[in-house]
Amino acid sequence: ARKIIIDTDPGQDDAVAILLALASPEEIDVLGLTCVAGNVPLDLTAKNARIICELAGRSDLPVFAGCDRPLGRDLVTAEHVHGKTGLDGPDLPDPVMPLQDRHAVDFIIDTLREQPAGTVTLCPLGPLTNIATALQRAPDIAGKIRGIVLMGGAYFEVGNITPAAEFNIYVDPQAAEIVFKCGAPIVVMPLDVTHKALVTAARNDAFRALGTPAGIAVAQMTDFFERFDKAKYGSAGAPLHDPCVTAYLIRPDLFSGRHVNVEIETTSELTMGMTVADWWGVTGRAPNAFFVGDLDAAGFFGLLTERLARL
Ligand code: BDR
Ligand code: CA
Repeated sequence: ARKIIIDTDPGQDDAVAILLALASPEEIDVLGLTCVAGNVPLDLTAKNARIICELAGRSDLPVFAGCDRPLGRDLVTAEHVHGKTGLDGPDLPDPVMPLQDRHAVDFIIDTLREQPAGTVTLCPLGPLTNIATALQRAPDIAGKIRGIVLMGGAYFEVGNITPAAEFNIYVDPQAAEIVFKCGAPIVVMPLDVTHKALVTAARNDAFRALGTPAGIAVAQMTDFFERFDKAKYGSAGAPLHDPCVTAYLIRPDLFSGRHVNVEIETTSELTMGMTVADWWGVTGRAPNAFFVGDLDAAGFFGLLTERLARL
């Protein structure tokens, strides 16, 4: 199984991404969850991550709290999407499992140094503050990363928090710039693909019909989470942004994209956090990321439903 660290700001869609990983031990070995401030402040993301571990029956998993604010900007949160708790929808019990004492950034650095080089994949599902801080503090880890598979950015779909930027990149553009320049192989799940991973009513009924605590909780999270995108974009349902990352690790054949050069806007207030992806190869700049543009939605939801049934 591929060893991963999930860096996350749960977030209903983060929660589904984590559940999918934990339900897939043959393909994915989750070494730990590192939490970051994003959708809601850090104390809530660190709490929500543990709620999800317990829902999956994995109170043994180490969960770490990381950076509580972006590198150089004030924290922007997304309660308007995810609710006050960040995980509004289901009524899940407060976690009993502990938060680890070690800082998330130290866990990321230590793990990449301890494990054989080229074996650990980082899976960021929120702002890139923890990953960038680790790279800044320990530049030697860049060459040890097997790959970074992240949710963030947009090309044709442009933005969801501003007209020009996607939330995860917008919250910490400086961090994103450090990550995109680090030299490790990067796979990006931008809004262009995640807006095709829509939970329609029939797909949500399939989650609910599993009748398990995880299946029911996912359906309830979606019931809450879909309001925003339905009202704002007239979408058919909630986009499962972050689960695209963990689904890619299991079934990369469900996704297609291009190796492109991606630069991050870090100075213009108007387009702050924009992912300037050279989709048409007009700049001659070397590709630094595999930018995904499409997925087999039926295959994706089939996989997700089958795996959630295992929890
Ligand atoms: C991203 O922002 C958050 O609201 C979601 O959890 C996802 O990671 C989508 O723009
Ligand atoms: Ca997220």
